[in-house]
Amino acid sequence: MTEPLATPAEVRLLARDRHAVIFAHNYQRAEVQSVADVVGDSLELARRAAAVSAEVIVLAGVRFMAETAKILAPAKTVLLPRSDAGCPMADMITADQLSAWKAEHPGVPVVMYVNSSAEVKALTDVCCTSANAVEVVRSLGADKVLFGPDRNLGAWIAAQLPEVEMILWDGYCPVHDQVTLERVREAKAAHPGAPVIAHPECRPDVTAEADAVLSTSQMLRWSAKAGEPEIIVVTEGGLLTGLAKAAPETRFIGLTPPMLCPNMKLTRLDHVRDALRDLSGAVSVPPDVAAAARGSLERMTAIG
Ligand code: 13P
Ligand code: SF4
Repeated sequence: MTEPLATPAEVRLLARDRHAVIFAHNYQRAEVQSVADVVGDSLELARRAAAVSAEVIVLAGVRFMAETAKILAPAKTVLLPRSDAGCPMADMITADQLSAWKAEHPGVPVVMYVNSSAEVKALTDVCCTSANAVEVVRSLGADKVLFGPDRNLGAWIAAQLPEVEMILWDGYCPVHDQVTLERVREAKAAHPGAPVIAHPECRPDVTAEADAVLSTSQMLRWSAKAGEPEIIVVTEGGLLTGLAKAAPETRFIGLTPPMLCPNMKLTRLDHVRDALRDLSGAVSVPPDVAAAARGSLERMTAIG
């Protein structure tokens, strides 16, 4: 017999019984966001995980987010409802590759985007998210920085901090990197006067065209304040759920075809229900890796 589809009320009851909180990233499906205690960007989810009092955290997002929560809250059970929800960019640099890269640049501080594995974070001086990347690099006061895995976020930081030589790894987000300037200009031509907000994972020519380059939660706050009739949004389509709530008077224009992250879209309400009911999908990080990675994440959450 097929199991009935989960309902939001059932999921909330299970969360109460399990002493659990549900965290959802801003790109998650609306049905998942609707049951979450916290919906946020990577920095907010990391900070909230570090401060959580519940015993269980269900992390509706991708693996690096669940690993980050586990490293920052080691005593908690962290459940990733879909164990196959990864981030292709996080797989674009391995710990061995980072070790070899560091050996080529002795003494140069290493900043890694939080979209990376726990093993890579363990070899990193400080992590950053899209919300605090510029502040994190500035805080080092260094004239040279090794940055990865996202070459586009690295190029964005370099444009803001010309005094720092950014040595970039060649990784990228397949969802944001495929957006061309031409597509953005088409949207602008169809909606004259509408400002463009873009995520810093987009290519440099796209971020240069944007009116604001922001993390996902920063986009929500920016749009709520802007009071614009129309805004062109250059990030993953799941953010449109939050944008419609944050600024109900604004019409948000996504690109055509829509930008969708297949990994972010794997998690459905049923998977959240199953994880809570069965306490399945627990994320573990080897203690030596977690201990080595914790410092770089704690420095990240303290900045910006
Ligand atoms: P934010 O931290 O801005 O939410 O971005 C996470 C992410 O994976 C973007 O693709
Ligand atoms: Fe990774 Fe890009 Fe998906 Fe974000 S949108 S989780 S960076 S693949």
